[in-house]
Amino acid sequence: MITLSNVYKEYKLDGEVFTALKNINLKILEGEFTAIVGPSGCGKSTLMHLIGLLDIPSKGNISIFDKDVSKLNDNQLSKLRNEFIGFIFQQFNLINKLNVLENILLPTIYSRAKLDFDPLKRVWELLKRFGIEEKAKSFPNKLSGGQQQRVAIARALINKPKLILADEPTGNLDSKNGAMIISLLKELNRKDKITVIIVTHDVHIAENTRRKIRMLDGEIVKK
Ligand SMILES: Nc1ncnc2c1ncn2[C@@H]1O[C@H](COP(=O)(O)OP(=O)(O)OP(=O)(O)O)[C@@H](O)[C@H]1O
Ligand SMILES: [Mg+2]
Repeated sequence: MITLSNVYKEYKLDGEVFTALKNINLKILEGEFTAIVGPSGCGKSTLMHLIGLLDIPSKGNISIFDKDVSKLNDNQLSKLRNEFIGFIFQQFNLINKLNVLENILLPTIYSRAKLDFDPLKRVWELLKRFGIEEKAKSFPNKLSGGQQQRVAIARALINKPKLILADEPTGNLDSKNGAMIISLLKELNRKDKITVIIVTHDVHIAENTRRKIRMLDGEIVKK
């Protein structure tokens, strides 16, 4: 599903080049549940940004859903991202001026492709599935962290993605809510057949995933 070959990411800082990712070679197969672990600053989020088509590599090749990323223009990249990839972040990244229902609907508005589902009907299904239907008209700042993250997951799912990228999704949650989010992600992987890649500092979570990729100083040291 995703192949990275000899991928580098370099940042220029005050004329000096900083290499955030070095010679990354990685294959993620459809249906996998993979954890990415490693110390702060080792390049986990940078790698997620490249896989999520939010950024492009300085060198090397990425192919995703059988498409060579370097051959796509900005429009094609955002279309692919919008249709196939759902993002979940540590800070939830919900829009405070929009209510829960509007937040979840947002990706369907950006989507230029014809939807094969009724967006509003799907929002209510997701709200029910995640036990937050009575919060549909609430605003994000009136919700608990666990509820906000469930809204963020519903938003990530609205366009029926094939891939979910979760960058420290439990980092702002207590252990009980963190465990609930992880079991939700596992269920999405098992039942809905969504490929999941999760960045986590939580050793317990990482121990429980089938595949663990360990990074250090911009390199993959174990996969
Ligand atoms: N836009 C940028 N410009 C310059 N340097 C950057 C940029 N983004 C990231 N970096 C650097 O690249 C390195 C990797 O950053 P990254 O955010 O991928 O780390 P991380 O493993 O996700 O860390 P954390 O666990 O703290 O989230 C860091 O040294 C960071 O300072
Ligand atoms: Mg990070």
